[in-house]
Amino acid sequence: MESRLDSKDIVNENEDEFEKSFEQMISTLPKRKCWGNREDFYQYQGFWLYPTFLKGVVSAQQRFQAQPTDTIICSIPKTGTTWLKSLIFSIYTRTSFYDSTTPLLSKLPHEVVPFMDLYHADFPSYRDMGVPVLATHVPYSSLPRSIIDSGCKLVYICRNPKDSFVSLYHFNAAIRRSQNLQPPDLDEAFELFCEGVSMYGPYWDHVLGYWKASLEHPNKILFLKYEEMIEDSVLYVKKLAEFISCPFSSEEHQKEVPEKIVKMCSFENLSNLEVNKSEKVRMGVVQHKMYFRKGKVGDWKNCLTSEMAERLDRITHQKLSGSGLSL
Ligand code: A3P
Repeated sequence: MESRLDSKDIVNENEDEFEKSFEQMISTLPKRKCWGNREDFYQYQGFWLYPTFLKGVVSAQQRFQAQPTDTIICSIPKTGTTWLKSLIFSIYTRTSFYDSTTPLLSKLPHEVVPFMDLYHADFPSYRDMGVPVLATHVPYSSLPRSIIDSGCKLVYICRNPKDSFVSLYHFNAAIRRSQNLQPPDLDEAFELFCEGVSMYGPYWDHVLGYWKASLEHPNKILFLKYEEMIEDSVLYVKKLAEFISCPFSSEEHQKEVPEKIVKMCSFENLSNLEVNKSEKVRMGVVQHKMYFRKGKVGDWKNCLTSEMAERLDRITHQKLSGSGLSL
C-alpha cells in the first residue's frame, strides 16, 4: 500500500530537521531493489525514484518558488532532455552570445540548465542572469504547487517507449561498466520497465500526466515528441521560441537563426565537443559522455527481440487507449 505521507508532513525548519523527517518519511515508503543497482527505488506519490532524487523532489515541493516568467523543461529520463535543454537555452540566449561564445561550447547542457530536483536552491541566480529555464523529471501530479500556481510555462518531451527503454538500459549499463560492474540483466530490466518500475516510472503514467495537462492548458504546456522534433527540428525550434515568448524576428528568419540553433544543438555537433566527450563525472556516477549515445530514432531494433517490442507496444496501446496520444 502506498504511504499517505506527503511533503507537507516533512518538517522544513532547518536542514537537520529536514534530513531527519525525510529519513522518517522514506522509511514508510514501498521500496524495490532493481536494475542491479546498489540503491533501492522508493515509490513516492505513485512514482519510483532513487533517494537522492527523492530528497530533491521533496525539497523542491516545499521550497521551490516558480515565477510566471520561468520555463520548466519536463521529461522522464532518456527522452531527449539534454537536447531540449540546449535548444531552449540557445533560443533564450541567442542575442547574448555569438555562435562562437555560447556556454554550450564549454559546458554540458545540464550545467547551463540545472535540474530543479537537484539544484533548485541555485536557480534564482540563473534567473538573475536572464536564463529563467529549469528542468525536472518530476511527474506532473507531483510538481511543486508554485509551478502550477505561477502559471509559468512547461515544455514536456516524450519519446517512443521502446527507444526510451533501450536508452535507459544503455545509460545504466554505461554507468555500471564505468564502475567495473556487470551491466544490468536486460530481461530483468525489461520486465521491471513493463511493470512500471524504472526511474520516475511508470513510464506511461508520467507521459499521460503531462499529456492530459497539456490538453487542459495548451497555452501553458507544450507537449513534444522526440521523433517529430528529429523529423523537422527547425519547425520545432520556431514553435518553441513562440511558446516561450521569444519568437524569431523576420530579420532572424532571414539570417537563418533557427537553422543555426538546430545545427549548434545537433547530436553530431554536441556529442563531438570536448566537454561532452569528457569522462568527467556528475552526480557521483554519470560521465558527461554518457548523455550522448546515438541520438537515433528506432535504435530499439538493435536491442529488443520482436516479442519484447510487441509486448511494449501492447502495453503502450492499452495504457494510452482513449487518451488521444500515440507513441
Ligand atoms: P540514445 O541513448 O537513444 O542515443 P536524456 O537527455 O533525456 O537523458 O536523453 C538521452 C537520449 O537523447 C540519448 O538517446 C541521447 O543520445 C539523445 N541525445 C542527446 N543529445 C541529443 C541531441 N543533441 N539530439 C538528439 N538526441 C540527443
